Amino acid sequence: MATPARQTLRQMERTETLAATDAGIARAADLLREGRLVAFPTETVYGLGGNAARDETVARIFEAKGRPRFNPLIAHVPDIAAAERIALFDPDARALASAFWPGPLTMVLPLRDGAAISPLVTAGHRTVAVRLPAHPVARALLAAFGGPVAAPSANPSGRVSPTRAEHVLAGLAGRIAAVVDGGACAVGVESTIVSLGDAPRLLRPGGVPVEVIEAALGRPVPPGGSELAPSAPGQLASHYAPGAAVRMGARGAETGEILVGFGPVRGDFTLSETGDLVEAAANLFHILREADALAGPDGRIAFAPVPDKGLGRAINDRLRRAAAPR
Ligand code: TXA
Ligand code: MG
Repeated sequence: MATPARQTLRQMERTETLAATDAGIARAADLLREGRLVAFPTETVYGLGGNAARDETVARIFEAKGRPRFNPLIAHVPDIAAAERIALFDPDARALASAFWPGPLTMVLPLRDGAAISPLVTAGHRTVAVRLPAHPVARALLAAFGGPVAAPSANPSGRVSPTRAEHVLAGLAGRIAAVVDGGACAVGVESTIVSLGDAPRLLRPGGVPVEVIEAALGRPVPPGGSELAPSAPGQLASHYAPGAAVRMGARGAETGEILVGFGPVRGDFTLSETGDLVEAAANLFHILREADALAGPDGRIAFAPVPDKGLGRAINDRLRRAAAPR
């Protein structure tokens, strides 16, 4: 009878909030070396980091998030040399790395033989997702740690991604060793994921608009076979889910709805009054949380239409998942 309570106690730990200073980053790197979990800021969202070479640490990441399945994770590296130690780069990959790294692009590449990457990071695939983030705190931490860091977004599975340290603590306090507080994330939606190989494929729209990637490659990058790109709306996995129900494409609020505006549609909150997609992406997850708090249990949130181009594709992708049946 006492077992569940004891298990809960065993899982709880004191979560340190570390300043984004040399001392805070050094402490965070020490914790990573001990195999502990540390949330850290990237330019997209906060990541829940752990040593990507250690099976037990990677398993703890899934446990801390309450992830029902072992989805593959992104390996974060401080520089291109570190990326080339774990993955095989072809000319397309090199072109994208030089155009967009450091920055919000993740590439799925063939795993290098003998790479020090836990098979839990790749979910046993022969490919690995690699990302070189632009955030100075992320880069300093990755350099200080000195190895690849597996990091999904630092939120409980299926919930809204965190763009501030307080969002991380709201979801994961007591389940991770520390969070490095680097303030609000500038991009606000996760990295774009592209798989390379025979033909480039878009696995997830994100912080680098796919149109810009296509221009850099001189080739189309169509949506690819991934659980992240379901072929029919009914297959959309619920994700990024607030407590409230979400409706998209709203020109105004219906009774009882909290309205999130964009451009000419003014709401209780507004993603961007000037219709700026960069500003809207940066505000998206914070406003989703604030609107959720205002809507209350069983509340409803309506979002004004956002154009489906540039960063608008990533915004609409996240909103469709927030609106998906649960
Ligand atoms: O911006 C971001 O990418 C953030 C920050 C923290 O870097 N990270 C992030 O990680 O969004 P996560 O775990 O929430 O999303 C990673 C996605 C997974 O859903 C997975 O399906 C895909 O990347 N992925 C990882 N490795 C893959 C692989 N080898 N093949 C296909 N997809 C892969
Ligand atoms: Mg996530």
